[in-house]
Amino acid sequence: MIDLRKKRVFIAGIGDDQGYGWAIAKELAEAGAEILIGCWTPILNIFTTSWEMGKFNESRKLRNGKLMEFAKVYALDAAFDRPEDVPPEIAQNKRYQNASSYTVSEVAGAVARDFGQIDLLVHSLANAPEVKKPLLETSRAGYLAALSASSYSLVSLVSHFGPLMTKGGSVLSLTYIASERAVPGYGGGMSSAKAALESDTRMLAFEAGRKWALRVNTISAGPLRSRAARAIGFIDKMIAYSGANAPLQREMEAEDVGSAALFLLSPLAAAITGTTLYVDNGLHAMGVALDSPALASSEESTPSLAKSS
Ligand SMILES: NC(=O)c1ccc[n+]([C@@H]2O[C@H](COP(=O)([O-])OP(=O)(O)OC[C@H]3O[C@@H](n4cnc5c(N)ncnc54)[C@H](O)[C@@H]3O)[C@@H](O)[C@H]2O)c1
Repeated sequence: MIDLRKKRVFIAGIGDDQGYGWAIAKELAEAGAEILIGCWTPILNIFTTSWEMGKFNESRKLRNGKLMEFAKVYALDAAFDRPEDVPPEIAQNKRYQNASSYTVSEVAGAVARDFGQIDLLVHSLANAPEVKKPLLETSRAGYLAALSASSYSLVSLVSHFGPLMTKGGSVLSLTYIASERAVPGYGGGMSSAKAALESDTRMLAFEAGRKWALRVNTISAGPLRSRAARAIGFIDKMIAYSGANAPLQREMEAEDVGSAALFLLSPLAAAITGTTLYVDNGLHAMGVALDSPALASSEESTPSLAKSS
């Protein structure tokens, strides 16, 4: 049993109870950690209203019967580092107008004032305005926006939260296999953004390891029907593909990533940094798609296509 009582985590990228950020929060709460979250500014109102109305109560239930609590919820837009970076059309947008202090430096400052230090940091966010467009049709602005929100956001969070983190602390992000294999449909520069995120994981592991004795890792997660994944539009096909082709024929659960995250964030992983851990039922290990019509139509028998019963 991993004990994270007396540990405090900041999780960037929770906006409902469907995604990986929530599943990670749940596992950390089970282990006793105190949880602060950063919720994307334009959806903060709907998140807090849903929370107050009890919409998440069922998913908040911990094994001891209590409800998971968040010590504080901050508005966060991880695409901006300082107030002067926020363009007027965003600042004046009706979903931002009533919010303040949501850039990364301001949130880190607020966490320092409110709580002093944190021990753990989770980056569970991604965004690409042109995600539905193939890379060939992605504009420069769309590509750079994907990198800004989905990759540089990690660099920015580590550089601003690093000074508040206790020695031996740990940082974790979420990536996807499209960083290293072509996954048609994962467009708008998101594949590039995940490749950058994985590369930055290694550089940040070195730099933040030497500077603050922090560990930095990323989990390459299998497909989950989260709000962000549903917005991309082909998540059900990716889930079906994984079911047909992954070594393990079991449904991928958000909790699978939650428990791997708990391990990586805990002292059990004290010597693990700069790594990409696959939590995907083994799909990344496959070199052929077992359900390919090319295999089915073959006259020859293909060895070892055994299905578990
Ligand atoms: N769902 C999958 O199949 C899958 C697979 C592999 C990796 N991932 C990764 O997991 C992470 C979490 O995504 P998820 O699928 O659980 O969906 P999710 O919708 O639960 O989480 C994404 C969160 O990012 C937030 N966000 C977007 N732009 C932001 C910004 N500029 N500032 C702050 N927050 C912002 C959204 O509000 C949302 O809460 C992402 O990095 C995603 O790429 C997801």
